[in-house]
Amino acid sequence: MKTMPTQVQENVSLKDRTTFQVDAKARFWGKFSSPEELMFYYRDKAWRTVPKLILSGGSNVLFVKDFSGLVLHPSIRGIDVVEEDADSILVNVGAGENWDDFVAHAVSMGWHGIENLSWIPGCVGTGPVQNIGAYGAEIKDVVEQVEYWSTTDFGRHLLANQDCRFAYRDSIFKQGLKKEAVITRVRFRLSKVPRFTLAYADLKQELAGKGPPTLTTVRDAVIAVRKRKLPDPAEVGNAGSFFKNPEVTEERLEILHRRNPSMPVYPAAGGAFKVPAGWLVERCGWKGFREGDAGVHPRHALVLVNYGSATGEEIQDLAARIETSVFDRFGIELSPEVTIL
Ligand code: FAD
Ligand code: EPU
Repeated sequence: MKTMPTQVQENVSLKDRTTFQVDAKARFWGKFSSPEELMFYYRDKAWRTVPKLILSGGSNVLFVKDFSGLVLHPSIRGIDVVEEDADSILVNVGAGENWDDFVAHAVSMGWHGIENLSWIPGCVGTGPVQNIGAYGAEIKDVVEQVEYWSTTDFGRHLLANQDCRFAYRDSIFKQGLKKEAVITRVRFRLSKVPRFTLAYADLKQELAGKGPPTLTTVRDAVIAVRKRKLPDPAEVGNAGSFFKNPEVTEERLEILHRRNPSMPVYPAAGGAFKVPAGWLVERCGWKGFREGDAGVHPRHALVLVNYGSATGEEIQDLAARIETSVFDRFGIELSPEVTIL
């Protein structure tokens, strides 16, 4: 018989706990609001052998089957100023804080650096996992340290920005520390001196004619663009971009451009080039496709959607067909951004 902390529930549907809204179940579901509570689940005799999964906002996962272990939801809270000088502020934020509430708070306090990341669903602690990014900004530009609790040595660790191995939609938390690190807090260095990143075409266009930018106008512009382009998970199940934008070398790009002169392309790190996966998927004829309740959004070809009762397997199967058709036509391999479980 298991010691059942009162907050642990059994046979819980994850439909309303993930933005894809597929009806998978967790054998057990519980929350933790401190590393000590987390320690209990990893050390207690009855719980330590039970497989575990950390699930925060559930906006970047697709469950293709039930989870037979314990799903743990971080509810560590707090937005605490650690230090402040004339130019910047260091803020320590609990992993369970809602990301966009933190962005709204930063904007209201006059702190610069995350306004372009407005309206991204999910929790603060998950931001560093895939180095969230949008409209020319990435979380790596403002993270000073990530605090995590190790499932291996049961200790608290602080990782400096340069040790997080941040890259496009990637970090050490998706690689070497994947099963080990439970992020508990994130420390952000935000600027008190106005500093805007406004080169992204959609953002520039949205702000045109609106006078000198302010934190509020930039946040509002980002939200307006996002609302126009991306489906609201409250209305239709989705997890944002399903695939990452693939990177190609200059030589490969030349060949692709010879065959597809209109293919858009953006510079990427290390002299490579990024091709928008949305364009590739649209060219293969998938935009607006629907089979049962699984589909490709009519306004954005990179967003796979659940119109109601699609299963995780149906969405995964659709993703596999899209990958095959993009590879057959362009010779480019797409890889999922969403974590498939
Ligand atoms: P979850 O889905 O709960 O978890 C994602 C992964 O992280 C899982 O593998 C989980 O096990 C792990 N994890 C969760 N919490 C922790 C923790 N505390 N410690 C360690 N591991 C943990 N992403 C962008 O980068 N840019 C965008 O513009 C963007 N737009 C989106 C728009 C929409 C409409 C949607 C639905 C999603 C979008 N996303 C975007 C994807 C998603 O919102 C982000 O990846 C977000 O950071 C996920 O946070 P979450 O709390 O929901 O993570
Ligand atoms: N495009 C099409 N057809 C479509 C959609 C897009 O041809 O249906 C082409 C257009 O050329 C467009 C280009 O793709 O100009 C880029 O589209 P968009 O500006 O919507 O950006 P994206 O590359 O599809 C990325 C991120 C988003 C992020 C936006 C804004 C990835 C995988 N996705 O999308 O992040 O919000 O840029 O910066 O990098 C997410 O990660 O979940 C996410 C939504």
